[in-house]
Amino acid sequence: PEAFRRDAEGVLTVAGIPATELAERYGTPSYVYSEDTFRARAREFRAAFTEAFARIGAEVSVYYAGKSFLTTEVVRWIREEGLNVDTSSGGELAVALRGGMEPARIALHGNNKSAAEITRALDNGLGRIVVDSLAEIELVAHLARTLGVVAPVMIRVTPGVHASTHEFIATAHEDQKFGLSLAAPEDGGDSPAMQAVAACVVDPDLDLRGLHCHIGSQIFDADGFGKAAERVLTLMAQADERFGLTLPELDLGGGYGIAYTEADTPRPAREIAESLADQVAATARSLHMAVPHLSIEPGRAISGPSACTLYTVGTLKTVTVEDGARRRYVSVDGGMSDNARPVLYGADYTAVLANRRAEGAPVLSRVVGKHCESGDVVVRDVYLPEDLAPGDVLAVPATGAYCWALASNYNWIARPPVVAVRTAADGPEARLIVRGETEEDLFARDLGA
Ligand code: LLP
Repeated sequence: PEAFRRDAEGVLTVAGIPATELAERYGTPSYVYSEDTFRARAREFRAAFTEAFARIGAEVSVYYAGKSFLTTEVVRWIREEGLNVDTSSGGELAVALRGGMEPARIALHGNNKSAAEITRALDNGLGRIVVDSLAEIELVAHLARTLGVVAPVMIRVTPGVHASTHEFIATAHEDQKFGLSLAAPEDGGDSPAMQAVAACVVDPDLDLRGLHCHIGSQIFDADGFGKAAERVLTLMAQADERFGLTLPELDLGGGYGIAYTEADTPRPAREIAESLADQVAATARSLHMAVPHLSIEPGRAISGPSACTLYTVGTLKTVTVEDGARRRYVSVDGGMSDNARPVLYGADYTAVLANRRAEGAPVLSRVVGKHCESGDVVVRDVYLPEDLAPGDVLAVPATGAYCWALASNYNWIARPPVVAVRTAADGPEARLIVRGETEEDLFARDLGA
């Protein structure tokens, strides 16, 4: 059953616990995750892709993209659901290890990994390092040689597919910092991606496991992934022809979109997986190659819909906008420090009255934060009841991805707690998985007075 629903009194509940109770117990703002939803979505992705690709004779690994939301508790959920984890810094790697993930099930990404981060990965026997430049290939080989190990690597390539998404999160076109291009230089010769393959193949300190790409984020259909797969598989076929080596694995990255508002209509994981499997099978057939092991790295699609943020309503103010229309500004006790996505990407969210049934007539409202800038918007346009009053609790759904992860202390505001709710044998159960920051936490690092 849906974890976020209203009880008989009209109060929003998370896995059966009223939002009013959660707000009272943990304060606001707070991020409230449904552990059941998180786990169900992890399972759904794993099952959908595993079954779709089994049909075309390929195995699948799912790497949860930790950047979207990672704590040691989340690592446990991921591990228990049989997913691996994708980390993109030494910090995320440390969380994955501390959360008990087997090193072989951890991947390390990054366009500028430090020698210390690479060494940490090699020391711990990580499953893979995804290399992002020719210089990094040399660095990883050098560090592996020094440690006396062979480094398992994947090469990140940029397939030049334009996924329709915000510029800041679109990653596969040519003019950006990630990966090695598949395009051959104008003066002839090998593409950077092919040069990278050659560099890995000749180096005994490296074990080249396959190729990786990531075309962007918040993508709604399978065609971009299919197109990227076609380009990357073509390079695999060329590598086979040239070096007589069959690369075992194709990683298509993450980017599966979710619904933030009713305007968003993502397709279910199963449909995307089926469509992608068909496209990959057709490409492999035309290239006369076997379908390699497939990996994917969904982050947002698992963590995003698993949480909402609870806020308390404060100041209400109505202003007259163009054409005499009126807009009500609803200030809440958080804002861009707990959800930077509206400011960063113009991201849309919605909000619902959580502590009671919405009865008054709907009024066009803008939910704003408490920070000292006018761009500090939580929800640009939403209809909320006219009798909304200070002290009411609002819930903003789909804040599980890239909200806590991107949180800041702007204006010396402490970061909110993270609460996980789940259905246990003896009823629903809520617990803190990350305690909220206190003023003492913030002062602990201020060495002044
Ligand atoms: N794999 C790689 C290599 C990535 O770079 C990313 C996201 C993912 C997987 C996971 O993508 P997802 O499935 O979560 O879409 N802060 C932005 C999103 C940045 C995404 C960066 N890379 C936002 O809030 O929209």
